[in-house]
Amino acid sequence: MIPEPLHSILDSARWAPSGDNTQPWQFEVVDDLNFIIHAHDTRDWCVYDRDGHASELSIGTLLETLTLAAQPFGLQPRFELQDHTDAQRFAIRVSLMPYAGPRERALINAIPTRSVQRLPMPQTALRDEHLAALHASVPQGYSLQIKSSLSERWQVARMLFASGLIRYRCPEAYPVHRDIIEWDATFSEDRIPEHALGADPLTRMLMRWAMKSWKRVDWMNRYAGGAITPALQFDLATGLRCAAHVLIVAPSTPAGTLDWIAAGRAVQRLWLTCEAEGLRLQPEMTPLIFARFMREQQMFTQVEKLRDEARNIQQRLDTIWGADIAPRGVFMCRVGYAQAATSRSIRRPLRHLLHGR
Ligand SMILES: Cc1cc2nc3c(=O)[nH]c(=O)nc-3n(C[C@H](O)[C@H](O)[C@H](O)COP(=O)(O)O)c2cc1C
Repeated sequence: MIPEPLHSILDSARWAPSGDNTQPWQFEVVDDLNFIIHAHDTRDWCVYDRDGHASELSIGTLLETLTLAAQPFGLQPRFELQDHTDAQRFAIRVSLMPYAGPRERALINAIPTRSVQRLPMPQTALRDEHLAALHASVPQGYSLQIKSSLSERWQVARMLFASGLIRYRCPEAYPVHRDIIEWDATFSEDRIPEHALGADPLTRMLMRWAMKSWKRVDWMNRYAGGAITPALQFDLATGLRCAAHVLIVAPSTPAGTLDWIAAGRAVQRLWLTCEAEGLRLQPEMTPLIFARFMREQQMFTQVEKLRDEARNIQQRLDTIWGADIAPRGVFMCRVGYAQAATSRSIRRPLRHLLHGR
């Protein structure tokens, strides 16, 4: 039994978003006001998390969600990062302290409803008051870059298409795509449900068939233009059909775990603000990840041609956002005035997230 209000706070914080819905956290309750977050990354199986930064961003979204979830109880968490136990794991000690500041009700209410919208969105331009709310949502030192005109969205969509072609042809990404989709599902506790991907029925059928083995995927890619269909649907069309693409820019290029966690907090504030303002969001992280891997000379794939293409993504990002800004870009997404997603990832029950279970 977890004492109240800690139970309610953790239960709410569970709704923080994480890359591929991995929820890379467990909670160890110490007493009424103290607990430990045991964080891990997913580099051992996820090519997109080779350097652990995607998981660190997710931990940041968790800390921001905890902070908001504690406000209604007049509490605020103090976080203390413990030493890394190994490269893949670290712990954060959390103490709940008295809080007399304002309750950010709109953001708190948005915690359970905020979700990814992966379908094409209306291209209705962002209203000025919403633009202002988005710019004001990120913490001091962070800023937003926004691309919203048709020609800008087209430029970003083409870059996303090229990035999609890398993903679908990358042998190292195949097991990730295979394992993170829960087939034939509308909701998924620990993965992404198939219906949330927004593919048409024929593409879904082909994907299901092909994903059974890398041999099939490779055959489709070589002889049936297999990577093009998903890249057109999931990357090019959606890249165009939105109100804008948004880049969160950190004060400096993140240098370690603390910087990535801080960036994750900015991500969750932006995402919750969008939800509170009736805007939906989809992260577009792989171009940033590929560009970073190239900048830091990480061999994310054995296929040289794909590494060359990733280098091209890095150059395109520099062109789109500016060579001085792109390396500080910690989160990229598209936003728009769309309906809430009807298929979504849900979460593991709190009892499954208790450390040592
Ligand atoms: C750091 C991070 C990176 C993500 N990258 C992507 C992405 O590139 N594409 C995408 O469609 N969703 C991405 N997501 C969204 C997650 O898949 C999603 O948050 C998770 O499955 C939980 O679903 P929910 O946000 O609908 O609750 C990302 C989320 C986080 C926190």
